[in-house]
Amino acid sequence: MVSITESITNMFSGAHRGSSVGVDIGASSIKVVEVEKVDERAVLKNYGEIALGPRAGVSAGQATNLSPEALAEALRDIFQEAGISPRHVSFAIPFSASLLSVAELPEVGNKELESMIPLEARRYIPVPLSEVSLDWWVLPKRKAEKKNGAPTGGVPAPVSKIEVIIAAIHNEVIKKYEVIQQATRIPGEAVHFEIEIFSTLRAIVGRDLSPIMVIDIGAGSTKLALVDEGVVRGSHVVSMGGQDITLALAKSLNIPFTQAEETKCRVGTMGDEEGRDITVVAEIVLANVINEAAHFVENYERKHGTKVSKFILVGGGARLKGIEKIIEKSFSGVSVVIGDPFERLDAPAFLAPTLKDLSPNFAVAVGIALKGLEE
Ligand SMILES: Nc1ncnc2c1ncn2[C@@H]1O[C@H](COP(=O)(O)OP(=O)(O)OP(=O)(O)O)[C@@H](O)[C@H]1O
Ligand SMILES: [Mg+2]
Repeated sequence: MVSITESITNMFSGAHRGSSVGVDIGASSIKVVEVEKVDERAVLKNYGEIALGPRAGVSAGQATNLSPEALAEALRDIFQEAGISPRHVSFAIPFSASLLSVAELPEVGNKELESMIPLEARRYIPVPLSEVSLDWWVLPKRKAEKKNGAPTGGVPAPVSKIEVIIAAIHNEVIKKYEVIQQATRIPGEAVHFEIEIFSTLRAIVGRDLSPIMVIDIGAGSTKLALVDEGVVRGSHVVSMGGQDITLALAKSLNIPFTQAEETKCRVGTMGDEEGRDITVVAEIVLANVINEAAHFVENYERKHGTKVSKFILVGGGARLKGIEKIIEKSFSGVSVVIGDPFERLDAPAFLAPTLKDLSPNFAVAVGIALKGLEE
């Protein structure tokens, strides 16, 4: 929603009223995307990425843990470099800084749910509720349940159940983002937040209603989200990401991290001798992610009597050439595709090859920028 004061500022600054900036502060880099609505189409105005490694005394591609002040400085630099004036900005909150759970509750009115949720939330949230910002929403009923009046599996439940997503973000995390926002001189009333997997979903899943697993392979962690009938129904994080492939490659070839990172990004798992080394290492490292993903997906399939037959890979780790083959061969009857969030946006044709290459890396930033257009 555009507030009256914001519209007035727009008129005086001459800035585009519809433009929205999405910011994804990842462990290894910050990604920003600016979009604008033109004739009901979302148009890419600007995008940029800045590596955080060198600002934290480690290599580009490595996970970091910088102070809000240092992150604000990096964000200011990227805004300046990309020529973005930070007005209407939305931040993606890292999955690792949030708690998401799906609770099954009796189908009661919203008022009763309101008092039930904090009690339910206490089961999942390991810190006092006063320390977190809590949000929840009821998931749309599954089609199968609507038809049968009972969950798939056949046994009629005595009381009809609903699924509720409970999301909690630690107040400390919100505070950190407020420090970044203030230090970047982003007007407070124009800021929105969203947990990153919801941004990813907006950017890549679209109208596909079949059960899909989205796998976001970041630098230090991999985020799994189960999307069914268009909404997130479950999530899981694996503490392993792209940097672990580089670290393992550096160790096995006895080369520095920067050299291993360069080789991994250039060669991938295709091709000759170098490609073979990377394939061996990538398969070992990814086996951990694949195992956890298999458990996660099997649990879901068993519980809901369904089959997840499509995986979408995003995150910088999904840019590893040939990664979809490694994942595909570990699952039967599953097609693995690389997510392309820029497909959603109109962009100049000459940028197409560059965007295609970078695309999976920008899923969160595109998704959170698109959210800003909805506000
Ligand atoms: N072309 C490429 N081939 C292989 N790996 C790549 C390529 N480009 C980037 N990566 C890897 O992607 C990882 C970074 O991904 P991404 O930018 O999604 O992480 P992040 O968002 O900073 O981290 P996180 O999501 O864990 O907070 C790094 O480990 C990097 O090595
Ligand atoms: Mg990320």
